[in-house]
Amino acid sequence: MLKNDHLEQWDRENFFHPSTHLADFARGNVPQRIITGGQGCHIEDRDGNRLLDAFAGLYCVNVGYGRSDIADAIAAQAKELAYYHSYVGHGTEASITLAKMILDRAPENMSKVYFGLGGSDANETNVKLIWYYNNILGRPEKKKIISRWRGYHGSGLVTGSLTGLELFHKKFDLPLAQVVHTEAPYYYRRANLEQSEAEFVAYCVAELEALIDREGADTIAAFIGEPVLGTGGIVPPPEGYWTAIQQVLDKHDILLVADEVVTGFGRLGTMFGSEHYGMKPDLITIAKGLTSAYAPLSGSIISDKMWKVLEQGTDENGPIGHGWTYSAHPIGAAAGVANLRLIDELGLINNAGEIGAYLNSAMADAFGNHANVGDVRGEGMLCAVEFVKQREGRVYFDASDKVGPAIARALLAEGVIARAMPQGDILGFAPPFCLTREEADEVVGKTVKAVKAVLG
Ligand SMILES: Cc1ncc(COP(=O)(O)O)c(C=O)c1O
Repeated sequence: MLKNDHLEQWDRENFFHPSTHLADFARGNVPQRIITGGQGCHIEDRDGNRLLDAFAGLYCVNVGYGRSDIADAIAAQAKELAYYHSYVGHGTEASITLAKMILDRAPENMSKVYFGLGGSDANETNVKLIWYYNNILGRPEKKKIISRWRGYHGSGLVTGSLTGLELFHKKFDLPLAQVVHTEAPYYYRRANLEQSEAEFVAYCVAELEALIDREGADTIAAFIGEPVLGTGGIVPPPEGYWTAIQQVLDKHDILLVADEVVTGFGRLGTMFGSEHYGMKPDLITIAKGLTSAYAPLSGSIISDKMWKVLEQGTDENGPIGHGWTYSAHPIGAAAGVANLRLIDELGLINNAGEIGAYLNSAMADAFGNHANVGDVRGEGMLCAVEFVKQREGRVYFDASDKVGPAIARALLAEGVIARAMPQGDILGFAPPFCLTREEADEVVGKTVKAVKAVLG
């Protein structure tokens, strides 16, 4: 690629980068990285650096970079029919085929897929469908959504409210009143260090029951959760958590939304996280892994139970008043079909399970006894290392020390990308499913070096 000498300058002058310190970026204090290519688990930047991307972009390039099968499918679709809408019964071969492929892979009680563009808008759709559902059932008061602290469900108005991270609320006048938060299933960070895992689960359940009691079950429509907390710290739930939560929801007639934007299509070594943990969702949010980010596409998978009510609603009120111009965009759908085929053909879900387990155990071996590591955890191709000032008594670093970002920077200098998770000194790993054992060894070995460089 030709080096355009103005690109860095244009970038600082014109481009609003998400999740970025805007003033520092303008001052030149945030490094620019212009990515030019990718192959397998590696990306390349304009300065010729080749980096092992152990976070798969934003845990989305699940099949790895440079897959020509998907690129060819996108090109063929663009040439044949770049766009047609999906309103009023219209569709394309790609969107209809993809809906069928998703339902073939989804839990049995699922009925239909609505397609959007990203995880945030899919959760926005979910909230609207939940409200519509309860209005049709004659329960106009049953509207609030329970989410967990440290949950991540997007950064729109309602989805930013569902997200349980302070950064996404502060100065944005969020969360909106229809969203209430409950305890995060984050055993390592439990307030009471005396609690066993089972006692902590009982505590999470009691907190949920108390919240439902306070608000009134007849005002609570749904509970949303990621099978494994992602952006909030990559935290698998404690044993028995989802079964216990599911019982409470069933008892109070509260719908469950499984946000599988990260876990859907294989990241835990199973097709969905719901099946991994025995969740029984009424709605499943999908995005990232649906196309491995080769094109923007998301979806809401809707259960039979909800679908019947939606149909009833349109009998009573006319066509559903919901849709985007780009719902089921043919290029995204073509990418999705090619991506799901490739995952099957290459057995990538098995690889995510196997190599993910290898990565997690190698990381635990490397850091299990480190004086500044409080927790090493993960599931499938998700892994996190949590750093503390002092392991004994669990003393955290001061947030202003920015230890997590410093370690991520040191690791980048070694040629490996991991993510400093936004809340806490947590280094997150979520590599493409095609990671090899050798690459997993490289990730762990270089993380050891980076930690040494920062913490000694
Ligand atoms: C679990 C989960 N839900 C929703 C979203 C929002 O997706 P998007 O950034 O595509 O809007 C994300 C993004 O990381 C996510 O991790």
